[in-house]
Amino acid sequence: EQPQAVKDTLAAYVKEGKIDFSEGGLDWKELKEVTRFYFVACGSAYHVSLVAKNVIEDLTEIPVECDVASEFRYRNPKLQEGGMVVVISQSGETADSIAALRLAKEKGLPVLSIVNVLGSTIARESDHVLYTCAGPEISVATTKAYSCQLAAGYIFSLLLAKAKGKISKEETRSLTEELFLLPGKIQQCLSFDQEILPMAKELKDADNIFFLGRGLDWAISMEGALKLKEISYIHCESYSSGELKHGTISLIEKGSPVIGLLSQEELAGKSISNIHEVRSRGAKCFAIRMEDITIEEEDFAHNLIVP
Ligand code: M6R
Repeated sequence: EQPQAVKDTLAAYVKEGKIDFSEGGLDWKELKEVTRFYFVACGSAYHVSLVAKNVIEDLTEIPVECDVASEFRYRNPKLQEGGMVVVISQSGETADSIAALRLAKEKGLPVLSIVNVLGSTIARESDHVLYTCAGPEISVATTKAYSCQLAAGYIFSLLLAKAKGKISKEETRSLTEELFLLPGKIQQCLSFDQEILPMAKELKDADNIFFLGRGLDWAISMEGALKLKEISYIHCESYSSGELKHGTISLIEKGSPVIGLLSQEELAGKSISNIHEVRSRGAKCFAIRMEDITIEEEDFAHNLIVP
């Protein structure tokens, strides 16, 4: 269902090629004045916020802070006037996220939520709501809702960049068009069983699996690690490629499985050098990479190319 769910989410906010959030009660002028965003969420939704932070800061230069909702209210957050709190939640009923939303409102900040369930508590109590169109998420392990939250986050970032005058009409149009290619690319990934199966067979008896990534790849790999442990019961953690050497590398031994995410050309060289570090300690490495990122095949036991 992921291709359709993502397509529906994008189509809900892009009308005749133009991004339109008016249904969510999001006023263009209000958005333009926001000086800082505070994203709050749990689990997979928190991982989405880390992607959104990367994209928003990159496109708009507006600072974005991300908090795990269960920590937010206990750290007495300093929320600046002019800021906006963004709560991401599939169910709209997660207790820690609701508490974070209420704290934000107490402190007088407007709250925008990205929610999947219509009329849920978070949706009702927020000033603005961007609904994702994932449909009912029956599985506890979120998949399509996560993808839809990412799609909503990207569209939101584009609108923001446009409101702030950071990207031109043409750039907005071309990036929006690019987003609409996603459902087809997701469909392609869903047909990769033949490529994934041998990799899964090699990983199935592992006690520990490590994900490595930089930038966006790190944010995405956190979700990979969560999903893998949640449904396979194999212990799995994600580390930022450069941070691994500050202690965790001592866990890497002969045969330790390491999955490297390589989707950003400008960071790939650095990430590959971290792969070499773990390889020299005997790790068995797997790559999930974009086609145009060149690797030395012999560095990896398997490498999966995603569109
Ligand atoms: O309903 P929510 O999005 O607020 O739930 C937050 C997390 O509990 C959720 O994303 C969880 O991490 C996923 N179901 C894991 O697959």
